[in-house]
Amino acid sequence: MNVEKGFVDVPVEAGLDLAAEIRKLKEEKNAAILAHYYTVGEIQDLADFVGDSLALARIAETLDNDIIVMCGVHFMGETVKVLCPQKKVLVPDLNAGCSLADSCPAEEFSKFVEAHPGHTVVSYVNTSAAVKAHTDIVVTSGNAMKVVSSLPEDEKIIFGPDRNLGNYINSQTGREMLLWDGACHVHEQFSLEKILELKEQHPAAKVLVHPECPAPVRLVADKIGSTAVLLEYAVNDDATEFIVATESGILHEMRRRCPGKTFIPAPPNDSTCACNDCSFMKLNTLEKLYNTLRYEQPEVTVDESIIDAARRPITRMLELS
Ligand code: 13P
Ligand code: SF4
Repeated sequence: MNVEKGFVDVPVEAGLDLAAEIRKLKEEKNAAILAHYYTVGEIQDLADFVGDSLALARIAETLDNDIIVMCGVHFMGETVKVLCPQKKVLVPDLNAGCSLADSCPAEEFSKFVEAHPGHTVVSYVNTSAAVKAHTDIVVTSGNAMKVVSSLPEDEKIIFGPDRNLGNYINSQTGREMLLWDGACHVHEQFSLEKILELKEQHPAAKVLVHPECPAPVRLVADKIGSTAVLLEYAVNDDATEFIVATESGILHEMRRRCPGKTFIPAPPNDSTCACNDCSFMKLNTLEKLYNTLRYEQPEVTVDESIIDAARRPITRMLELS
């Protein structure tokens, strides 16, 4: 099957009940579908597991399916492949990258590490497997604080690639981790001004903020955390209105879990759109998912030479969190 474009470019028969077909193929092929909270609602509804990066990495290892389809972005597919090299790992569209992972090319990162000997290298999971291979411990937004705090206070640390998350951890722990200067184009788009405007219209609303957002946005947060942490906060908190400063896909699960509550997406700074989408996550469509399962393409591959080196820091994270 030709996947030159990064996905199976075969037209789907008109009128096909895609959800039913996907369920059927999944059973026939003993496949599991994992989906990140930022994917479109219709994919989340079909997935066997929906979660944040940490939960998806954890679950992948425990599955006995022959095929795992990762509906998310490329580094998430790589993480599954690194943890389960014997399984066939598929993604609906190989073009689903990540601006944050792209802001940290492996070769430059390894030079940065070499230039600062004596440092423990902590990398956010939003990195390529090649960057993970130059890393001592991987973290996600769900466990970064805990993992960094578990290291001796005088340990010198390099943290990459997200300067906002790194800066947040430094501010909370009093550490002075050396930060790689990377960022996510979606979360950098949130602004304090726009959130304060929304706050004026909804004074009782609580503000939920992902730690990839810049420091001024974090200042007005009632809760800062990974997608899963923000979701649990919304479920358990007494407030009935929430302003959500992270990718808008999470609102699907928030609304499903909290039918009586109102969730207002914080808008990006430079457009008239009401919410902030990750264009990479949105490359995952039902049509592509159907074709992926049908033709078992495109497959995620990770160079044999880096699989073991990339697995070590991920396993260390899973043990510490
Ligand atoms: P989580 O780790 O919170 O799921 O976030 C992943 C991500 O890509 C954030 O932009
Ligand atoms: Fe990457 Fe940002 Fe998209 Fe998350 S939201 S996958 S960090 S580009």
